Amino acid sequence: MLKEKIENLKKQFLAEIERVKPSDEALFELEKKYTGRKSEFIAILKSLKDLSSEEKKQIGELANNTKNQIWEIIKNKRQEISENSFDAEKEKIDVTIPGKKKNAGHFNPISLVRRDIEDIFVSMGYEIADGPEVETGWYNFDALNIPKDHPARDMQDTFWLRQKVKSQKSKVNKENNEESLSMRSQTSAVQARYMEKNKPPLRIIVPGKCYRREATDTTHDHTFYQFEALIVGENVNVGNLKFTAQEFFSAFFKQNVTVRLRPSYFPFVEPGFEFDISCTVCGGKGCRACKGGGWLEIGGAGMVNQNVFVSAGYLRNKYQGFAWGFGLERLAMMKYKIDDVRLFHSGDLRFVKQF
Ligand code: PHE
Repeated sequence: MLKEKIENLKKQFLAEIERVKPSDEALFELEKKYTGRKSEFIAILKSLKDLSSEEKKQIGELANNTKNQIWEIIKNKRQEISENSFDAEKEKIDVTIPGKKKNAGHFNPISLVRRDIEDIFVSMGYEIADGPEVETGWYNFDALNIPKDHPARDMQDTFWLRQKVKSQKSKVNKENNEESLSMRSQTSAVQARYMEKNKPPLRIIVPGKCYRREATDTTHDHTFYQFEALIVGENVNVGNLKFTAQEFFSAFFKQNVTVRLRPSYFPFVEPGFEFDISCTVCGGKGCRACKGGGWLEIGGAGMVNQNVFVSAGYLRNKYQGFAWGFGLERLAMMKYKIDDVRLFHSGDLRFVKQF
């Protein structure tokens, strides 16, 4: 009877070990089930004490042998598992396979161009200045010789904020010393801010964001970047303006660029110019990019109006200076051949990832 029981257990074990997927956990469970403290096997061994000494010897031997066989089989399985778990073929490392590329962040083309510009001007001894994007009417207009009723304010149709601030400077609301805030429409707003705190000689550029209430199209956006230049000293002239700009554009486009000034009007300069550069695509011969004319419009420039110096607290006619305000997007569009200014702020990764 016991003999049969033992043999049945062995058969059962053999069948089961064939069925389970070999793993350390499965083998542990089998070992426990068949030879553990609470197993049937141990129960059989315990019941031997009631047998005759002849039977005890026979069954005891059979039981022990069977138990050892089970352990042996389990041991072999364990060995198999540990041998199989190291697959030399799988573990092999091919050091020639290119690494997995991590997705790193990168700069928007506006930032790339801005950094290029800053590098060039810093190497020419310029300082980089900054100002707030929410600006008072005083700095954005009045200090720039644009009084309240001047039509130039309309040209830069502006996002006004409801909030007003106390101001000593405003000529707008003299009675209650309050003035309106707006999103600055030009980096020129930083001119008087900087000059109030610094005395000539000075040379700065002001790269920064500006806002205008624009009907947007491929060349206009409501949010855009300018970079202002302001150079003030006792002996600064239009020749300096032209030379500096030419040096900058040649470095920026890595080719010889010629500069052209056309008479124009901005209240804060006298004389004022519309500023063109020779076409960077055809070199000035005339092509589609410059609509055949050979020139590309870049922005406004001129000699600082003495009224601006006075607003900033300088003596009239003591200094001269030049200033310009160029569109950063326009330069980026030329450099990277981009045909729609709205792409810069579109947040479209397909666009940004190209740079
Ligand atoms: N601020 C002017 C504009 O935004 C450009 C400009 C700057 C013109 C400096 C002359 C001098 O249109």
